[in-house]
Amino acid sequence: MWGGRFAEGPAAVMREINASLPFDKRMWREDVAGSRAHVAMLGAAGIVSPADADAIAAGLEQVAAGYQADGVPDDLSLEDIHMLTEARLAEAIGPAAGRLHTARSRNDQVATDFRLWVRAAIDQVLAALTAFQQALLARAEEHAASVMPGFTHLQSAQPVTLGHHLMAYYEMAARDVSRFADARARMNRCPLGSAALAGTGFPIDRDATAAALGFDGPTRNSLDAVSDRDFALDYLQAATQCSLHLSRLAEEFVLWASQPFGFVALSDQWSTGSSIMPQKRNPDAAELVRGHAGRITGCLVSLTVTMKGLPLAYSKDMQDDKPPVFEAHDLLALSLAAMTGMVESATFRPDRMRALAESGFSTATDLADWLVREGGVPFREAHHITGRAVARAEAEGVRLDQLPLADLRAIDPRIDDRVYDVLSVDASVASRTSFGGTAPANVRAAIAAARGETA
Ligand code: ARG
Repeated sequence: MWGGRFAEGPAAVMREINASLPFDKRMWREDVAGSRAHVAMLGAAGIVSPADADAIAAGLEQVAAGYQADGVPDDLSLEDIHMLTEARLAEAIGPAAGRLHTARSRNDQVATDFRLWVRAAIDQVLAALTAFQQALLARAEEHAASVMPGFTHLQSAQPVTLGHHLMAYYEMAARDVSRFADARARMNRCPLGSAALAGTGFPIDRDATAAALGFDGPTRNSLDAVSDRDFALDYLQAATQCSLHLSRLAEEFVLWASQPFGFVALSDQWSTGSSIMPQKRNPDAAELVRGHAGRITGCLVSLTVTMKGLPLAYSKDMQDDKPPVFEAHDLLALSLAAMTGMVESATFRPDRMRALAESGFSTATDLADWLVREGGVPFREAHHITGRAVARAEAEGVRLDQLPLADLRAIDPRIDDRVYDVLSVDASVASRTSFGGTAPANVRAAIAAARGETA
């Protein structure tokens, strides 16, 4: 394709290091689509004859049908998917194939193909995120009033509901949706027609190719268009953030499925056994989601470092843009599907959650708040009084709501028997009615609002 000024062919290792076909063949559909739009424009603009444009268009369909039927071969001598498609086109239609690359370079071609690929990847992720959110909403609704311990420092803090906890992950997923949608909107400009770096002297119609490929319009600067991989980094940043959320939920499932917690039993479908210990049910899928988040972060770092020192315009380093994006996308798609399956099929154990919520003096804040509200005690003093009540309960080996009134009154005489109304875990969660709080009524309202948003 470019041998005119060369007397010798490349060294074998040069061929190998130079070739991107083994991975960029994954973009064959995008490559054919880009060429189809380009040749239609060349024909309409009179840059190639109508007969040649028609022959090229028909030949491209033949090439695509061949890829579809037999796959794309790893022919390293053809470097990349762009060269392979052109070579296949020449086999199919002869010398007219040589007119396809008029007013185009592989630099704007690859930038266009890759944007199309990432755009489709985002659409897949958005669909998977929606399914994940639906799973969270269904389980949150079921457990809108199921009391569990809320933690800080992984120490029992205040009771919350499982529904509220699951809705926290719904919120994270909603931000992920917004990040991916934002990246999609920003990347939806077409580089095709920027040619190698400077634009072209041919009377091309960039609006036409952009529209044919579903872009909002052409990119505005030819140098930027062939040098820019922000769209791939935007994807990786959103993917990293999303995988981080999935990893935190995965970590909680690992903890909750352990015997000391016993908050959840993961279904058989999402567990594995041990080859030596017959009793085991291991949360491997959750652990792998947690692990994949590390690899996805690695993909982001990889492309970030590739791009950071590159002068304008195209440098071959940029060929290394695709493997991390492909890898991150495959890992994220698996992680989203696995977490959705785990959420849908998990058996939660509200009895166990309630027992732990009741055991850690988790309504101590409710006692302090009661002293402020009913006894007019300043909060700092109420905190101190409550601390003494907790110490007393701990010494006697009872829960706060099992301490006799006489004991409480010995600590502070402003306490009366109405305090028992606030010391149960149910009373505690029911009282948290501030906007965004854990009261079951709030959780149900949040679910209804979310349903309106995602419907
Ligand atoms: N395979 C190349 C890539 O993925 C295509 C662009 C090659 N352009 C060039 N001037 N060598 O980046």
